[in-house]
Amino acid sequence: MLICVPEVLSKADVADFRRVMDGCAWEDGRSTAGAQSALGKRNEQLSADSEVARKLGHRVLSALSASPRFISAAIPLQIFPPLFNRYAAADDHHFGIHVDNAVRGDPLTGLRIRTDLSVTLFLSEPEEYDGGELVVEDLYGSHEIKLSAGDLVLYPASSLHLVTPVTRGTRVASFFWLQSMVRDAHARSLIFDLDTAIQALVERLGRDDPETVKLTGIYHNLIRTWAEV
Ligand code: NI
Repeated sequence: MLICVPEVLSKADVADFRRVMDGCAWEDGRSTAGAQSALGKRNEQLSADSEVARKLGHRVLSALSASPRFISAAIPLQIFPPLFNRYAAADDHHFGIHVDNAVRGDPLTGLRIRTDLSVTLFLSEPEEYDGGELVVEDLYGSHEIKLSAGDLVLYPASSLHLVTPVTRGTRVASFFWLQSMVRDAHARSLIFDLDTAIQALVERLGRDDPETVKLTGIYHNLIRTWAEV
């Protein structure tokens, strides 16, 4: 399931990120790719161990923790330190079809996670570039994703995906992976749908409505059944 989360970063935050990133040195994106994905990867990244990437990454993480929709969809156990990339038309940047590595380790913190979900947080507005769609394949076909700056998409890290060539302008994004407390994608999707329905009921009936209280109990008990912490 693909889940979009709008307005994780404000436009003011996005502008500040872009200002900081514009003054940075960028390196070949193949530094963090696996052997297969490196073959089709042509982009640039901020060095994963640079101070600026760490600082901006922390700002992304605090924005995520303030997003109820992100938490509800991901049920995160561990989030990998966010990375930052850019695809420039001038350099024919793109990323061919691949599956992300199943396990990722961060040498700086020693954190090691199973990548259940991949995340792209868009930092360019769609009008700033042509091409650069994230294309994710699932059982229902191929899905093209290009969101407003500050919005993110969550997709299963197990899925084949690519970034189409950027043919005008520059596409800047943050990307990272996370391990969910609920490993099974179908179980996670059921919990997300239930939570979304409960939040709608709470709006209509209030938090102390007896059936809403029961459904909230079922929500927690499903997490208790499936969560690995
Ligand atoms: Ni990927």
